[in-house]
Amino acid sequence: MNAYPTAAMVARDFASLQGRVAIITGAGQGIGRVLAKAFAQCGAISVIAELNAAKGEAVTKEIVDAGGKAFAATTDVSSEDSVADMVALVERHFGRVDILVNNAGIFSTLEMRPFDQIPLEEWERVLRVNVTGAFLCSRAVLPAMRRAGWGRIIHMASGAVTLGRPNYLHYIASKGALAGMTGSMAREVGAHSITVNAILPGATFTEIERKTVTPEQKVRIISQQCIPRAETADDLVGTVLFLASDSSAFLTGQCLTVDGGATHR
Ligand SMILES: NC(=O)c1ccc[n+]([C@@H]2O[C@H](COP(=O)([O-])OP(=O)(O)OC[C@H]3O[C@@H](n4cnc5c(N)ncnc54)[C@H](O)[C@@H]3O)[C@@H](O)[C@H]2O)c1
Repeated sequence: MNAYPTAAMVARDFASLQGRVAIITGAGQGIGRVLAKAFAQCGAISVIAELNAAKGEAVTKEIVDAGGKAFAATTDVSSEDSVADMVALVERHFGRVDILVNNAGIFSTLEMRPFDQIPLEEWERVLRVNVTGAFLCSRAVLPAMRRAGWGRIIHMASGAVTLGRPNYLHYIASKGALAGMTGSMAREVGAHSITVNAILPGATFTEIERKTVTPEQKVRIISQQCIPRAETADDLVGTVLFLASDSSAFLTGQCLTVDGGATHR
């Protein structure tokens, strides 16, 4: 038995994703990169909608070199024009958009500081990318999903919202907004068999060094989980693929916390 699910292991369970077109925003690194690889391992076409062109292309190459299907579409999710261009490009190439994972966010680069020290410009930029970005991407994929009478929208919110973590209030506000948007969006699109759900990951450790969790906080976070080990991006793969699959057709408007049991509701 393996207590650590590998993305490849989980991907084998989701053969129904074969041939689906999955846009994963911010997939140039971290969680998005792992999710993009997992979708491709299921036989889906992963669209890497990433702001950093070099990183987006590197992940695309990684997937293609491993025998998967991927497509790099340099995108700024905070720009209406850029998002429209990306979705038009995907539709031109593949004629469909089945899955959208709103994963892009200002996160690993955030400075932790009390809210009275957050410059207004930074506050607005975080909300613009993390909330408006998800709104713009969701709005742009809707025509294709409605046409198909099938769709999956997954927001990457955060468990930090339920913990009331201090010192990045703009980030908390943005992830709280995503969680709040989930139920309302789900109601508006359910009649077209489009589901909308959010995942609230716990502190998830990726290849990217970040300032939002100190080594001392990491030890404390792990000690509060039922499963006392560091959460990795692979731990999110099973939930994301399930929410993207046919199997979750009647599950919508939900926020699923994937944090090793750190919080219970
Ligand atoms: N890692 C964690 O502990 C954790 C926990 C809960 C939620 N999340 C959320 O999961 C998502 C991924 O987390 P991560 O750890 O991989 O973050 P990360 O900061 O390592 O990666 C974010 C990615 O988004 C891209 N991006 C930023 N702005 C963009 C824009 N305007 N348009 C397109 N792409 C843009 C970045 O270039 C980067 O590749 C984020 O939304 C984050 O808030 C992460």
